Order: sequence, then structure tokens, then C-alpha cells
Amino acid sequence: MKTPYVPIALACGLALLSSGTALAADSTRDDAVTFNEHVATIMHERCASCHRPDQAAPFSLLTYEDAAKRAQLIRAVTGTRYMPPWNAEPGYGKFKGERRITDQEIATLAAWAEAGAPEGPGSAPAPPTFSAGWLLGEPDLVLSMEEPFTIPADGPDIYRNFPTRVPTTEDKWVRALQFRPQARTVVHHSLFKADTSGKAREFDARDKTPGYSGMGPIPGKRSLSGWAVGGQARVFPEGSPLFLPAGSDFLFESHFHPSGKQETERSSIALYFADKPASRTRLSFQLPPRFGSGAGIDIAPGDASFTIGESFTLPAPVELYGVTPHAHYIGKEFKSWAELPDGSEVPLIWIKDWDFTWQDMYVYEEPIMLPAGATIHSRIRYDNSAENPRNPSNPPKRVFWGRQSEDEMGSIIYTALPANESDAKAIREAYSVINKRHGRQAIEDSRARRAAKRALAARAASSGQ
Ligand code: HEC
Repeated sequence: MKTPYVPIALACGLALLSSGTALAADSTRDDAVTFNEHVATIMHERCASCHRPDQAAPFSLLTYEDAAKRAQLIRAVTGTRYMPPWNAEPGYGKFKGERRITDQEIATLAAWAEAGAPEGPGSAPAPPTFSAGWLLGEPDLVLSMEEPFTIPADGPDIYRNFPTRVPTTEDKWVRALQFRPQARTVVHHSLFKADTSGKAREFDARDKTPGYSGMGPIPGKRSLSGWAVGGQARVFPEGSPLFLPAGSDFLFESHFHPSGKQETERSSIALYFADKPASRTRLSFQLPPRFGSGAGIDIAPGDASFTIGESFTLPAPVELYGVTPHAHYIGKEFKSWAELPDGSEVPLIWIKDWDFTWQDMYVYEEPIMLPAGATIHSRIRYDNSAENPRNPSNPPKRVFWGRQSEDEMGSIIYTALPANESDAKAIREAYSVINKRHGRQAIEDSRARRAAKRALAARAASSGQ
């Protein structure tokens, strides 16, 4: 592609010299889009964070050869904004690390594909260098799963927990962390916990396979946040590091989605410690609570607008610093906003076309200050129609709440700090009223779900006869 292109450009340059009328056409020719001049920078800035060797994306886009053979595909996936992946609507909440490509860049990539993906004269700018190590520099401690775990080529999703001994002899406060999966194509998400009871290790010892499955009760288990596909290093707000007790077991609570090829996973995590304990209480609440287990999720086949939601009125001011929407395949739209006592609205997040692959935690560029009396609303819509290309069932099936990827869940997790430390308890208490109501409803929902599943099974059995 290189050789045929350059002569054409030169020919046009010559035409320009000989004919004044060709000026307009020629000046667009001089602007011809080339890899070296225009496209390389876009690939490096917008794509290379994932599209380079040993990252989550299936191929590299660093060099001319990498990109040119996929020019049409690049045009297609950027034209629909499927790539770079970023679910949140622009202008509705401003987030750190937004992975958005501009309209201008999309047009450039389309023009480049159209022109036959020319390399152009000269040479491309050097690809960016990525630190081979951890994004935030030398960690204070790196923990890895004690043994590798094998994920078969296919079969149902696997939920498994892996305790890893924390070697520190003093309590620590984690100000930042970075998770690193090894088999990037199968690790869907991992939640981090600390166990000081020794229970997790007991559960692990029950069989020879590394880790354990299920959710045995672990008294006093503490959360240390988590990671999902697309996730980056995580830095906690100033004054609010997470507690890691001395000599505890760090738990990777991981969800694997088989990829069609057997894989071996041994996850690692880099931890960065704060010099001081937390001085502010980290508030975390979900709307609806409990991943929607008490929100009545029972979605009829064909229903494209099944919606759940919840609202929470703050008894005291908070600084909202992040939101994490969660649903599975047929989750379609998330919207959250705060209604202030003066009636105005603050946009928090809007995802119009949810993609299960990208379970980002959206961290605000600047924390959002919400006054006492503000009501946070969340709405989550599901599309269980055959027209939803992400529907795993065709024809669509009735979908209930559950932990498998093909069941549904739904909530938005909000992370905040109380504006005044003395209000932390009041805020927690106000939320716990909603949480408890959902807890009771979850028991009802699960009864109804079991009855409905029995009825469906009975009907299937009788129609099979
Ligand atoms: C945050 C990580 C990330 C970024 C940034 C990213 N990609 Fe991707 N890309 C992926 C992953 C993971 C896949 C494979 C899964 C998929 O297709 O969704 C993929 C798949 C693709 C595919 C194949 C799609 C298909 O249907 O086979 C193309 C083409 C692509 N990306 C182009 C780009 C371009 C061009 C950019 C930059 C403008 C970009 N990507 C930025 C992670 C990323």
C-alpha cells in the first residue's frame, strides 16, 4: 500500500503546479490522511493502552502493519463507538480517564480506510512507552494467588475465592492498588477482601483444587474494593485508605467466564500503603441495594423496557466520588441523577447502551458535592427482546435475578465520603432502612423465583411428553 500511494500524491502535486483550477481538489489531496502523519497518533493515544502485546485486546495496533490490515474494521468499530470502549454518555457526569475518541478522529480513521490505508512518507512517531511494571510505580507489597487455577475451555461461569497470606506484621492502610490478571480473556471480575478469622483458609483446605467456591460465612470480612475488565489502577481519596489487618488472608473473589480455550490464572495485586490510618469514613451504598436481589427482577421474554430503580435521600451532605453500574448481558440503560432540595438536578451517570464486558468504576473528575436533603435516583432498564444483539438467548427466555452471567442483577454502587465526619453514622443509618427493606423483599423474591422455576420446569416436562 505504501508504494502505490506516494506516486499518486506526487502526481497531484505536479498537477497543482501546472493547473490553477485544480487548486481546491489538490489542497484536499495534500491533506490526504496517512498512517505516519495522522493515524499513528490516534492509535497510540486512544488504542494502545489495550491494543499492544500482553494486554486485554486480542491484537496490537502499534505499528503500520498492525493497523493497515484492519483499516476497515477500525473504521467500523470506531464509527459506532464500539471502540475505544466507554459506556458513559459524554456531558452527563465528568469522569477521570474517559476513553473517548473525538468525531474528528473518527472521520480521520474513516478517510484513511477509504484511501486504502496509506502509510505515507516519512516515519510514524515512536509508539508510547508503557511501564513494564506497575502503573503507579514500585508497590509496597505484591500479593499473588498462592497456586495457579485452571479454567476449562467451556462450561458454566466459575466463582471461586483464593486466600493469600498477607505477610505484614503490622496493620496497613491501602491508599492505592492495581490488580493484574494473567489469563486476561477469562477473568471477568475479582472482589478483594481481608479475612482475619482463618475461615477462608479452612474452606480452601476442603479440597485439593486451589481456592474454594460458594459463599461460606466469614465473620468480620472486610472489603478492599475490586477489579473488573477494563479496570485500571485504583487510587482511593485522600484521607480514606482501606484497612488491611496484619497477618490476614487477602481474598481474591473471582468470576471466570470460560473463553473456548483452557486457561491458567494466577492473579496478582500491587498494594501501596498510606502512612496514616483513614481519617474519613468511606461510605458505599447501592441503589437498588443487594445487586437488585430484592428489586423484583423477573423479566418476560420480549420485554424491552423492564425497569428497576431506587432512591435515597441524604440526611447529611456527602462528597460523591465514584459510581459503578452493574448488570449482566441484557442490562441496557442506566441513569442516575441527584435531585437537590431547590429542585435542580445534578447528572450522575447515563449509560444508554450497556456492554457487560466493561464494568468500569467511574470516578468523577472532581467529587460531586451533594447537600443534605438531596435525593439520589437510580434507574436500570433491561432489554429482553430478540432485537437486543447482546441477548444470550434466542428466542428470549424469562430471566430472573441470579449469579450466573445469563441471570440478571442490577444496581449502581455509589462511593462517597461524608462532608462532615460526624455525619457518617446518620448517613449509614438512613441507607440501612432501604437496605433492610430490600433484604426482606429479597427473601420474598427468591421464594417467588423458585416457585416460578418449578412451574416452568413442570410445563417443559409435560410439553416434552
Ligand atoms: C480499554 C481497552 C481497549 C481500548 C482502549 C481499545 N480497545 Fe479495541 N478491543 C479491546 C478488547 C478487549 C477487544 C476484544 C473484545 C471485543 O471485541 O469487545 C477489542 C477489540 C477490538 C477490535 C475487534 C472487534 C471485532 O469485532 O473483532 C477492533 C477492530 C478494535 N478493538 C479496535 C480498537 C481501536 C481502533 C481502538 C482505539 C481507537 C481500540 N480498539 C481501543 C480493548 C480495547
